[in-house]
Amino acid sequence: MIAARGRATGKVIVAGEHFVVYGAPAIAVPLPAAALEVEIQMAAGGTAPQGHVAECARIVRERWGGPEPAAVSIVVRSQIPVAAGLGSSAALSVALARAWAEMLGREPDEAELREVSLACERLAHGAPSGIDTEVAVTGRAVRFVRGEPPRPQVVGPGIGLVVIDTGTPASTRTMVEAVARRRGEDPARFERLLAETSALVAAAGDALAAGDVARLGAALDAAQPLLAAVGVSTPGLERAVAAARAAGAAGAKLTGKGGGGTAIAACREPDAATLADRLRGEGWTVVAAGGIAPAA
Ligand code: MEV
Repeated sequence: MIAARGRATGKVIVAGEHFVVYGAPAIAVPLPAAALEVEIQMAAGGTAPQGHVAECARIVRERWGGPEPAAVSIVVRSQIPVAAGLGSSAALSVALARAWAEMLGREPDEAELREVSLACERLAHGAPSGIDTEVAVTGRAVRFVRGEPPRPQVVGPGIGLVVIDTGTPASTRTMVEAVARRRGEDPARFERLLAETSALVAAAGDALAAGDVARLGAALDAAQPLLAAVGVSTPGLERAVAAARAAGAAGAKLTGKGGGGTAIAACREPDAATLADRLRGEGWTVVAAGGIAPAA
């Protein structure tokens, strides 16, 4: 049996989620501990793709040709929790596009992968900013502004992140739509929150580049109430953030769409394992703990 494979990693948004949809900058870093692999088997008798996987396969085939999606079997192996704000849908679309390209003997460039992934993300989310796709395609830390060429985010050495899963899934589309409603109710207030977020993203970016954990932690702490103000925090996320701070994190906030999903805590890289152990000891699920890749 012939098989083709593709891979992509998940991401965490360090700062700027949701507001990035409306033009604020945001910073995201890859999560190499959480990867997703797609394997396409070109043999009859396998499991035909279903649901979003089948939709993505149709989107790729429309562009690059190849067999009917129903004629292949597509296996997804993922370490990325689904609907947790860690970019699993963007990673799926990029890994699937890579596997499809390998099956056809094609070598797509980053622009082609972005285009396919964004088409899949539009189906899943409605109005993606593109930040998840950017990290899934490049595997690099990025400073992202919608509609502008993405810039690499420099990450100095020594910064650790711990990713905590509240165990409550949430839909990105639902959360993005909920924020749109809040914005519509009071556009001037939303603009103020967006301006504050933009300043925090700049501070978080400088702190990341300098390897300044204290400053990064302060930016995360300051970002959390701004996200709560647009309705994407939950009691579970507030508890996760408080638990991380009490366990010694320099700062913490929800990451990604919210409504459940995951929170991130910043710490010194050598302290990440201890922080994760403390949180696990209190019953929290830790998805990843460790340093951020230092190179841009
Ligand atoms: C989802 O990972 C991040 C959001 O900002 C939506 C987007 O940017 O497309 C909530």
